[in-house]
Amino acid sequence: MVRTSAPGKVILFGEHAVVYGEPAVALAVSLRFRMRVAPREGGRARVHRVDGHRMDASCHAYFKYAVDKYWTGGPLEIRTDSEIPSASGMGSSAALTTSLMGALIELGGGAIDAERERIARQSFDTEYGVQGRASPTDTSTATFGQGILLAKRAMDGLIMHVERGGAEWYVHRLKVPDLSIVIGYTGVKGSTGEMVARVRRLYDENPLARGVVSEIGEVTMEGVAALERGDAARLGELMDRNHELLDAIGVNHPSLQRLVDAARPHSLGAKLTGAGGGGCMIALTEEPERVFKAIAEAGGQPFMARMGAPGVRRDGD
Ligand code: PMV
Repeated sequence: MVRTSAPGKVILFGEHAVVYGEPAVALAVSLRFRMRVAPREGGRARVHRVDGHRMDASCHAYFKYAVDKYWTGGPLEIRTDSEIPSASGMGSSAALTTSLMGALIELGGGAIDAERERIARQSFDTEYGVQGRASPTDTSTATFGQGILLAKRAMDGLIMHVERGGAEWYVHRLKVPDLSIVIGYTGVKGSTGEMVARVRRLYDENPLARGVVSEIGEVTMEGVAALERGDAARLGELMDRNHELLDAIGVNHPSLQRLVDAARPHSLGAKLTGAGGGGCMIALTEEPERVFKAIAEAGGQPFMARMGAPGVRRDGD
């Protein structure tokens, strides 16, 4: 029997602009997806079970895709336990897929630590296969942990190059300081596809929007430098700036702004994270309890987290 876990993620800088070739930074956070995978003694051939149910494509799309493509052994018994809210932009499907891929490698006699790039590639392939369209952001962050810089060209810290469906990405490793962030979930489900399409229209019609996108790219690279210096105050300022720029391209939402406003008096910086139109915001803070309370009082669901969580790993039995 193998236990594994993988972290959820938030985007610290660069969402939406990354669609136009600008860099983006994603952080692994200390909320984890945990899994226990064991061979099913006496199970019928190829009948796998997930949390007591027969694995099937409609309820367990990621499991089914990954196991059908990447597991050649006998039937499996899988148990899951997640701290990451699903469909909130916090990367829960990537953390699920990555912890499963890690477990399959360990069960097959391999070691997660020796196979991280393979785990990242197979997990991205699974997300892409199930979602039809995906970037390697979430699966790379769940695999490698810490921080990930996604860019359209190779820079320092390159881990791998990924190409799919005519798009390409260079995935870089970023070491990040151990700082507190509080995540606020609005409870409003934003549609990533709709928000990306909205920015696309603005970008095509309006040169000001193109200027905003390129400024987000500059903020992101300044953010990378601040992360490397461990300069929390500067990181906070840059998060505030990134939020204003995201607001300018129309992906903010009243439910997000309410939580950002509630968090700011006790934070170094706060911004929406991910696609916007609802979903989540993040605050960088030295007073996490106060921010947690402020977000709850403003009607959001707060989560305490730390930056710099480890990537997929085998946990103790
Ligand atoms: O909703 P999330 O956190 O997975 O973020 C989407 C990020 C976008 O930049 C808006 C879209 C993308 O594919 O990069």
